[in-house]
Amino acid sequence: MACFQRVVTSSLLLMITLLLGFSEAKEILIGGKTDAWKIPSSESDSLNNWAESARFRIGDSLVWKYDSQKDSVLQVTREAYLSCNTSNPIEEHKDGNTKVKLDRSGPFYFISGAGGHCVKGQKLIVVVLSQRHRYTGISPAPSPEEFEGPAVAPTSAATSLKGSLVVSLGLMLWGLF
Ligand SMILES: *[C@@H]1O[C@H](CO)[C@@H](O)[C@H](O)[C@H]1NC(C)=O
Repeated sequence: MACFQRVVTSSLLLMITLLLGFSEAKEILIGGKTDAWKIPSSESDSLNNWAESARFRIGDSLVWKYDSQKDSVLQVTREAYLSCNTSNPIEEHKDGNTKVKLDRSGPFYFISGAGGHCVKGQKLIVVVLSQRHRYTGISPAPSPEEFEGPAVAPTSAATSLKGSLVVSLGLMLWGLF
């Protein structure tokens, strides 16, 4: 019986660990695919269209894949973003495999450093929600059908569901002893 309890206990602990693991920071591939950092073919193909349906949280990292010979990623101010001014970026990345950690809430602005690409729409705004938004249902939410996608971070609903699962598992564990 003691042996059985130990097995149950360790399985529960494993499940709790796995559940908590899901709330860890994510690496989010820009556009959800490797060749997304390019001039969009249409408005609906734009990265901002993609970004609106994704969730970004503090601690997540954005990942860009592109040909370092032909393109780069510039993190810029809002003004430079709006005017596609590439001359004085906050950060310039041109290694072809760029990772930027989202270390605060608020907007992050990115434009392509390739000549003329920003003007043709190769640009991205990522808005990171503040911590407290994670647990309320209130956020500039996209419609549910837009929300499916491999690169999307968990919703606040998923977060609270996870929380209650952890609590009920904890109670089960408690009941065993
Ligand atoms: C671009 O930005 C730089 C520095 O931020 C500024 O000196 C320059 O005048 C800007 N160029 C244009 C075309 O706005």
